[in-house]
Amino acid sequence: MPDTLTVTDNRTGKTYDVPIENGAVRATAFEQMKAGDDGRGLVVYDPAFLNTASCKSRVTYIDGDNGILLYRGYPIEQLAEHSTYLETAYLLVHGELPTKAQAEEWIHDITIHTLVHENVKTFIDGFHHDAHPMGILLSTVGALSTFYPSATQIYDEETRRISIYRLIAKMPTLAAFAYRHSLGLPYNYPDNDLSFPGNFLNMLFKMVELKYQPVPEVERALDVLFILHADHEQNCSTNAMRSVGSSHPDPYSATAAAIAALYGPLHGGANEAVVRMIDRIGTVDRIPDFIAGVKAGKERLMGFGHRVYKNYDPRAKVIKRMADQVLSATGSTPRLDVARELEKIALEDEYFVSRKLYPNVDFYSGFIYQAIGIPVEMFPVLFAIPRTAGWLSQWEESLLDKEQKISRPRQLYLGEQTRDYVPMERRG
Ligand code: CMC
Repeated sequence: MPDTLTVTDNRTGKTYDVPIENGAVRATAFEQMKAGDDGRGLVVYDPAFLNTASCKSRVTYIDGDNGILLYRGYPIEQLAEHSTYLETAYLLVHGELPTKAQAEEWIHDITIHTLVHENVKTFIDGFHHDAHPMGILLSTVGALSTFYPSATQIYDEETRRISIYRLIAKMPTLAAFAYRHSLGLPYNYPDNDLSFPGNFLNMLFKMVELKYQPVPEVERALDVLFILHADHEQNCSTNAMRSVGSSHPDPYSATAAAIAALYGPLHGGANEAVVRMIDRIGTVDRIPDFIAGVKAGKERLMGFGHRVYKNYDPRAKVIKRMADQVLSATGSTPRLDVARELEKIALEDEYFVSRKLYPNVDFYSGFIYQAIGIPVEMFPVLFAIPRTAGWLSQWEESLLDKEQKISRPRQLYLGEQTRDYVPMERRG
């Protein structure tokens, strides 16, 4: 059987054979299908990319129907159990798990780049005291491009390598500085004796003690959360990274764009929205009213539903288990009781069942962050830190992909045709 799609254009009666490759047809194959004299061929209309592959990728695989997520072929559950965030970041960037020597070199190369230029502190100081830390993060990451002008040499492998180290290494520093700024506390410098998550906790929470000692359970929980958030194939922020990266700016600028995309409540802002939603619901007895409002279309049940997963999000399974562990140590909270009951009711409700709406990664992650002592405004920032490894892996893949060009979608123009300018006094 030939791997082709036969299309008959009923406007002209012409038939076309379109090759199928890797389960896809090329949208450009439809350009040849023309009916009028205007020379315009068919375009493929797909707002929000519901069924359009924008790239070929070898980084992350998702099978949404079966709840499978693989980074470079490795199941997320195994990485969450056995790996660390930095090892997972190496895997995403390089395609293979590191040997011992490679891991040591990678950790060294990231760790020596954790400091930021002192001027960065000065302009963080310029933000208002209640500036959202995600706004601070996206501005300061964009501003890093001005400190490393050579980063524009994106086709130089060594320059790309250093930009990747710098971005992965400096994200926790910038995130922690944004947090300390909001509290009016002095910034903590990185402690390179600590692990990646341990150092982040140090920069967030160290007060006057000489050496910050992270609680091992909290350090591990944070590392696992970082692993779970490290990549998620062509999500909104990764698409922003690739799309902005396609015009060939430096990776700091492209990462700032990805952070902006992640900021929205439908993407990385969802975990913050979940906790605020649970706060509004308040008590278990008010859940039925809330659910009725969701079903009436008044609002969404945040932390539920996913564009790709139409089954339980595998990351949510790991997080739910972890939330149980962390909160059994720190003590359950009324918020978590409301969340658990809300999940139970929603999973049995026909509205959610028929639309295949299950908890996603954001439903429980916020409760773990809160148990660790991280305020809600910081939740999307906590998502951005590890996703940087995914963004950079996808960015580099895209740059080296010979088929990629500047991203520039088509449109269906439905507006006015040519008309003459009307002077103001004659406008109705
Ligand atoms: N609560 C109530 N109804 C929902 C929800 C929800 N959370 N999500 C989807 N629906 C309904 C929606 O109203 C629609 O119903 P109908 O067919 O009657 O019009 C149907 O389900 C399909 O929804 P959709 O908007 O076409 O689905 P989508 O694939 O465009 O949206 C989503 C995916 C994640 C944006 C959406 O499910 C949502 O807004 N969820 C809440 C926000 C959230 O938790 N986002 C985090 C996503 S996971 C983290 C990440 O990877 O970014």
